[in-house]
Amino acid sequence: MIAVDISRGYVCAPIEEGVDMIAEIKRMKKEKNAVILAHYYQESAIQDIADFVGDSLALAQWAAKCDADILVVCGVHFMGETAKILCPNKKVLIPDMNAGCSLADSCKAEDLAAFKTQYPGYKVISYVNTSAAVKAHTDIVVTSTNARQIVESFPADEKLIFGPDRNLGNYINSITGRNMVLWNGACHVHEKFSVEKIVELKKQYPNAQVLAHPECKSTVLALADKVGSTAALLKYAINSDCKEFIVATESGILHEMQKNGKGKTFIPAPPADSTCACNECNYMRLNTIEKLYNTLKYELPEITVDSQIAEKAIAPIEKMLEISAQLGL
Ligand code: 13P
Ligand code: SF4
Repeated sequence: MIAVDISRGYVCAPIEEGVDMIAEIKRMKKEKNAVILAHYYQESAIQDIADFVGDSLALAQWAAKCDADILVVCGVHFMGETAKILCPNKKVLIPDMNAGCSLADSCKAEDLAAFKTQYPGYKVISYVNTSAAVKAHTDIVVTSTNARQIVESFPADEKLIFGPDRNLGNYINSITGRNMVLWNGACHVHEKFSVEKIVELKKQYPNAQVLAHPECKSTVLALADKVGSTAALLKYAINSDCKEFIVATESGILHEMQKNGKGKTFIPAPPADSTCACNECNYMRLNTIEKLYNTLKYELPEITVDSQIAEKAIAPIEKMLEISAQLGL
């Protein structure tokens, strides 16, 4: 492989003039036995060229069973790490290493380790939006698709710590009647949805239903007709008889909603400051078709996970996948 500059976290190489990047990506995928996994928050062009588009649970499930030599994870870093932990012998690439996650960043492994010492005898449930190092301090991982069922799989009197998302944790406490100790983290995109703006929109679209991701604040969730993961919101929108939806999650999901919900109207819920594009995750949007093209071409940048961390982090991820399979999720 030619030496190439990735000092900025992505391949810095000029793209040949006139090249058909979409055709080339398809060709390289075949030639290299590579697959592209994309999260629903990726830009539309990436979703359209991906072999698989899904929520964070589905991406982990797909990575675990896939027999390609190269996985290109078009999502954020923790998704790439999860894929690498599940497939240590495969090459796992991400178009831009800087694609992080404000929620994952809100919980550092050493801080969680110190937090745990304040709660002896507690089990730790970590949202998948965490680093591999945090997962290594965890008893079981959850995603927004299976959090409720996994929490309920513990005896009612089990003492639990849930992190890092306080909004998801609060929501799960409220629907399960548990009293989990919550880590005080949040996602900068989902925290910005405004109750006032959604109420205004509801006046404009009185028949619209509100769909909200559980990372939103409880005041936004209180307005929702459906609370769920990206996959759950998508499924609900497609199957519902309702024709109009106000969508309180990252606006990338609208692409799949519009593709599958023909004739329905999907309105992105506005953030408090309507002058910004704050309902777009700036981390997710760091991945572009150009970077994806160069990633496949140079097979860089590659996700790596320290082997000692990976050894500890795999058990709570596999436990989650096992329970999800038993539940048919
Ligand atoms: P999902 O588990 O619904 O895909 O959500 C992932 C995420 O990052 C939400 O912000
Ligand atoms: Fe992380 Fe929020 Fe972006 Fe999801 S939307 S990847 S939780 S920063």
